[in-house]
Amino acid sequence: MKGEIAIQREHPTPASEPVDTLSATRPFLRVQGLKKYFRLRGGSFGLAGAYVQAVDGVSFVVATGETLGVVGESGCGKSTTARLLMRLIEPDEGQITLQDRNVGGHNGMSLRTLRRQVQLVFQDSYASLNPRHTMAEEVGFGLIAQGIKRAEARRRANEVLELVGLEPAIFADRYPHELSGGQRQRVNVARALALSPQLLLLDEAVSSLDKSVEAQVLNLLIEIKNRLNLTYVFISHDLNVVRFISDRVLVMYLGKVVETGPVEKVYTAPGHPYTRALIASRLSMDPSRRVEAAPVAGDLPSPINPPSGCRFRTRCPFAESVCSLREPPLEAFGDDPAHSAACHALIPGSGHSRAPAPGGEPSTRANGAPK
Ligand SMILES: Nc1ncnc2c1ncn2[C@@H]1O[C@H](COP(=O)(O)OP(=O)(O)O)[C@@H](O)[C@H]1O
Ligand code: SF4
Ligand SMILES: [Mg+2]
Repeated sequence: MKGEIAIQREHPTPASEPVDTLSATRPFLRVQGLKKYFRLRGGSFGLAGAYVQAVDGVSFVVATGETLGVVGESGCGKSTTARLLMRLIEPDEGQITLQDRNVGGHNGMSLRTLRRQVQLVFQDSYASLNPRHTMAEEVGFGLIAQGIKRAEARRRANEVLELVGLEPAIFADRYPHELSGGQRQRVNVARALALSPQLLLLDEAVSSLDKSVEAQVLNLLIEIKNRLNLTYVFISHDLNVVRFISDRVLVMYLGKVVETGPVEKVYTAPGHPYTRALIASRLSMDPSRRVEAAPVAGDLPSPINPPSGCRFRTRCPFAESVCSLREPPLEAFGDDPAHSAACHALIPGSGHSRAPAPGGEPSTRANGAPK
């Protein structure tokens, strides 16, 4: 599969220590049991008062300096997770810890501190930049809002514009309509970097760009991360892009994490039937199919009334009765303790006919997947 990735790194990642998040005693970010249900207010289908289970018990850690990729079909809860991490919306349940400090709550980290340390970059669109702001104003805006003097904000804006490859002498006084999509997205990245955050949440940050521009922006993101020692959470529906940039990956389905592990493990030996279907679909290889082609047979169930037990069971070729009765826990399987999936067929003694015998050898599971 590696050879199928068309993007080439301009600046190979410097040899870095492999990140073993299980042994990382002080992850940069720790998320535990994050949950967000949206209450529907109106609608003509009698759904008022019903809840969309957008994010339902999501837990993960991000080690300092790593890139965690988050992948899954449209609507699986990726953006809601990002908005919860930024506290743009309040979680119903769950805990977010940044460098050992709780975010929010009575004695927790303030939102002001959180947003200095964590910044969000969205998909490029005209709406992401104020049409009446020059690029220097746009990038400096957040700094001035933080009380920094105008001249200093301008100096810093020029500095970060340069960092993202936009020569200030040419670009600082331009308006959004004078820039290409790739240049606008560089400005979005510069704006996020202006406050010197340590973690960038990149939500579909390259998804609207042409392939060649996408590769340039991805390489820029890698270069900036290495230069500034940043940590990334990189959210995308595009499997190839996630594989290219990530150290570890988190696969989401209908508000739940279904698989997580080192990126090469997950891509070469996926355990969860959903991950295997996603990878087999090669969703993003053909740009004309890239946007939202369904990678898995069958309709995506409604997040208002998701299936009982395993949420993937209505589309899973291996579904059995245990799958509707009990929700499978996210558990390590195979030969890498950092590689986990939530599937009864992988859990010894789960009652699924494909499950390995309790105490059985991991090698009895072909390719770490349900047989
Ligand atoms: N403010 C909202 N009110 C109601 N439902 C929402 C709201 N925001 C998101 N959702 C729903 O939550 C689910 C997850 O959405 P989202 O996090 O945007 O998914 P993704 O980013 O993976 O495409 C979807 O079903 C979406 O329609
Ligand atoms: S738990 Fe059952 S339905 Fe869910 S992915 Fe595994 S085999 Fe399929
Ligand atoms: Mg989204």
